[in-house]
Amino acid sequence: VALSSYLCSAPLDALALTGAEPVLIDADPATLAIDVTAVNREKNLDAVIAAHLFGYPAPVDQITCDRLIEDCAQTLGVSAGDRPVGAAGVVTVCSFYGTKLIAAGHGGLLAGNDPALERAAQELFTHDGQEEWRRPHLHYAMSDLAAALGLSQLGKIDRFIRERRAVAERYTEALGGSVIAPACAYSRFLVIAEDAEAMIASFRAAGIEAKRPVFRPLHLLLGRPPEEFPVATWAHEHIVSVPLYPGMAAEEIACVTSFLREHARALRCRPPA
Ligand SMILES: Cc1ncc(COP(=O)(O)O)c(C=O)c1O
Repeated sequence: VALSSYLCSAPLDALALTGAEPVLIDADPATLAIDVTAVNREKNLDAVIAAHLFGYPAPVDQITCDRLIEDCAQTLGVSAGDRPVGAAGVVTVCSFYGTKLIAAGHGGLLAGNDPALERAAQELFTHDGQEEWRRPHLHYAMSDLAAALGLSQLGKIDRFIRERRAVAERYTEALGGSVIAPACAYSRFLVIAEDAEAMIASFRAAGIEAKRPVFRPLHLLLGRPPEEFPVATWAHEHIVSVPLYPGMAAEEIACVTSFLREHARALRCRPPA
């Protein structure tokens, strides 16, 4: 199963739990998502996991493998081309963890339009009422309380994205740009620095918790050579995620904005504005 190296380890964990073999693909320099041309060159794939990262929709509909698992954990409520993200995959997964566009504590959502897959997914979670035990079931069910919170948040997603984009505009202006990326939900605001680690330390000294948007790319976690994944390696060395969320206090936005203005010569927006 192919997946991008520039991802958190959660999709790798999912593959490990099923026993599937991961086929790591480098990221695309334009979208930072899986490189579509590279994945389409791979032979004998059973499936592809393609995540839209940082709020930015990627052209995953161009992936030719017909078992596409679209990961919308970081990008929801926006469109890729003329379709909403999540519409291309045979299955689409979403996370509602606290750092995501919809935060419901934990849990997530599985969507799709194949009734047989839906039944199989339901069956995985339903251990009650079995006549015969054939396989282990998953006990990771989302609680009703978390689901209620998630549903209420879902109704507010357009407002959350508007608020995120308004903050992204402020940050972009502070860096000397004037236009933000049109289709981006800005689940992260990314900047490019000469040295991500040093820039994170400067943010920390100013009381701002900036982070690497992917703690460690998968090829590094798996001990693969960095030169085989030049884009993910470059992103790891240079990209920093700056705090941005709906409901952020005005003084916090002002603090980040003034830091960005002060360091504007050393930083560039990503995606470019
Ligand atoms: C792209 C992506 N996929 C999957 C996940 C995993 O989500 P969860 O923590 O809900 O399992 C995350 C977040 O951690 C993510 O960023």
